[in-house]
Amino acid sequence: MSDPATSIESQARVIEVAGPRHVAIIMDGNGRWAKARGLPRAAGHREGVEALRRVVEACRELGVEHLTVFSFSTENWRRPPSEISALFDLLRLYVARDLARLRQEGVRIRIIGSREGLEPDLLRIIDECVTTTGHNTAFNLNIAFNYGGRAEIVEAVRAAARAVSRGEIAPDAIDESFLSACLWTRDLPDPDLLIRTSGEQRISNFLLWGCAYTEIVFMEERWPDFDRGCMERALDVFRSRQRRFGGVGA
Ligand code: IPE
Ligand code: IPE
Ligand code: MG
Repeated sequence: MSDPATSIESQARVIEVAGPRHVAIIMDGNGRWAKARGLPRAAGHREGVEALRRVVEACRELGVEHLTVFSFSTENWRRPPSEISALFDLLRLYVARDLARLRQEGVRIRIIGSREGLEPDLLRIIDECVTTTGHNTAFNLNIAFNYGGRAEIVEAVRAAARAVSRGEIAPDAIDESFLSACLWTRDLPDPDLLIRTSGEQRISNFLLWGCAYTEIVFMEERWPDFDRGCMERALDVFRSRQRRFGGVGA
């Protein structure tokens, strides 16, 4: 068996040279972008979809394997119903406009989050994205939709408890890898880089488990203004970091 400390160090060295394999983004600032222009918040969300298209393209060209974007949080239900339905309509529109092209280009789409509270047509759209792109391998676009990091951990703990009650695992045998395998994000590598736009500096309940050792880059640009240049800057900052994973580094 390989020494875990050595393999984590060599993994860190590879990532430093190669750039991040998995980039996660908290796409924030749509509302402020719109307000600054005297537009309704929904206009900021619409413009945010354009930024998403640019960034998916940039990540593919820059050699990122996984892009995970936060598009609706379990706490975003606190927003006015009209804004919630505008956000849901955008997912519908994005899938209607982009799914066929993304599928053809080899993009695998995963939609990560709770199904609770979502309308049946949205659930059908989510299932369609996942099943029709499931065999693709060129790039992974993971959309965190109705996602909350704590909700994800609660669901994982429930799944583990059910496995215990069926006698499939002893409580003391539950370890990090077992619990990881119960998460919604179970097939994803941990994010290497987390970007949050719009100057806010918090996690807002995104990928709590997976971000244990993720490098975080906060950027001032509001999400609708985010482009390839911003992504390249974030990758440069990432490459300048030294990841130590609790060790002492090189
Ligand atoms: C991010 O933009 C999009 C979602 C949360 C869905 P916001 O809507 O949070 O924009 P601000 O933070 O109010 O500017
Ligand atoms: C986080 O942004 C959620 C998404 C980007 C989908 P919020 O704008 O909802 O986060 P807070 O409320 O400012 O922390
Ligand atoms: Mg916000």
